[in-house]
Amino acid sequence: MKAVKQTGNFDVNKIREDFPVLAQEVNGKPLVYLDNAASSQVSTQVIERTSKYLSEEHSNIHRGVHYLSQNATSAYEAAREKVRRFINAREAKECIFVRGTTEGVNLVAYSYGRKFINEGDEIIISGMEHHANIIPWQVAAEERGARIRVIPLNERGELVLEEYENLLNERTKIVAVAHVSNALGTINPIKEMIATAHKFGVPVLVDGAQAIPHFPVDVADLDADFYTFSGHKMFAPTGSGVLYGKREWLDKLPPYQTGGGMIRTVTFEKTTYAPIPEKFEAGTPAIAANIGLGAAVDYLNSIDFEAAARYEHELLEYATEKLSNIEGVRIIGTAREKASVLSFTIEDVHPHDIGTILDQQGIAIRAGHHCAQPVMQFFDVPATARASFAFYNTREEIDKLAAAVEKVIEVFA
Ligand code: ALA
Repeated sequence: MKAVKQTGNFDVNKIREDFPVLAQEVNGKPLVYLDNAASSQVSTQVIERTSKYLSEEHSNIHRGVHYLSQNATSAYEAAREKVRRFINAREAKECIFVRGTTEGVNLVAYSYGRKFINEGDEIIISGMEHHANIIPWQVAAEERGARIRVIPLNERGELVLEEYENLLNERTKIVAVAHVSNALGTINPIKEMIATAHKFGVPVLVDGAQAIPHFPVDVADLDADFYTFSGHKMFAPTGSGVLYGKREWLDKLPPYQTGGGMIRTVTFEKTTYAPIPEKFEAGTPAIAANIGLGAAVDYLNSIDFEAAARYEHELLEYATEKLSNIEGVRIIGTAREKASVLSFTIEDVHPHDIGTILDQQGIAIRAGHHCAQPVMQFFDVPATARASFAFYNTREEIDKLAAAVEKVIEVFA
């Protein structure tokens, strides 16, 4: 590969060597992987750590007195501690392993909903949420007789914060909002939004799925009550993920799922529950995947993550400029603060056709509604094509994306 621009001490060519999946051809062309918002790729370090667990350490955790089980438990709990440090939680016990953001939101909607949401209460979400941060709240609202209120968007795809303030009132029981929109790339001013909710005594759950791989997140600084994210979007295997919650909330919430591993005592008359985190981790968890998540955190700590974030942001700006200059391309989501995501449409071409033609060039993007149908309705499009970047992408790949988009336009002209 040709040398590409480097930012500070960030060397993308060296980084790419860590991600074996990138070094392949697809449809006879070098793979250009621009579907990182759906799933990012996994580094050799993560693959090797996961493989070591499976080949040498595999066993159930928290259950055995034998050597393997104790080793597996130590590795699993070490991964929790790595996550704690990475997001700056006070205690590792505040980091609940879940199988992804969807489970994290469902857990809070179910447990918090049953305990704290009642008839006539209100739940605030936003107009840019992924379905995973809409439907669990709709279900909770239906069950509890509560009402969903939605923070509107402006035409750039930013939240209208004055409206947010107006929605908060004494009936509001929780705010659930994305840190970064998966469909638009908008970075929401989440710290400010949390502070505003706290003025009303309202806790906030942040869907951090699209933020955590793109810039450092500090849950203490944000003062988030709950912050959830998926491992598979932050260079770890699928099935890993975290729900961070402040202890004062997690201690009060009832379990989400019940079964083995989450109890203190069981009789046929009554069960008492284990403290956090076990209370929320019923059944055998995704041990290998979460050890892999710990290794992904090690990986991010081993590179200069802040330099990587700056480099990736430059890529987004470069790609935005390139695609904006192509006649017939409409960028969906032009917020002033954005991360990773470039959604676009081409006049008279269905995004699925764009995706298929790009795939023929070896370029992987996502086409569709991105599990965010209300966003599509707002922008009055059935779907978009979405290129989403990670720090291992290059300018050369963006040049290929732009050339392929031009080809789509030629084919349909
Ligand atoms: N939520 C993932 C995406 O945005 C799957 O593509």
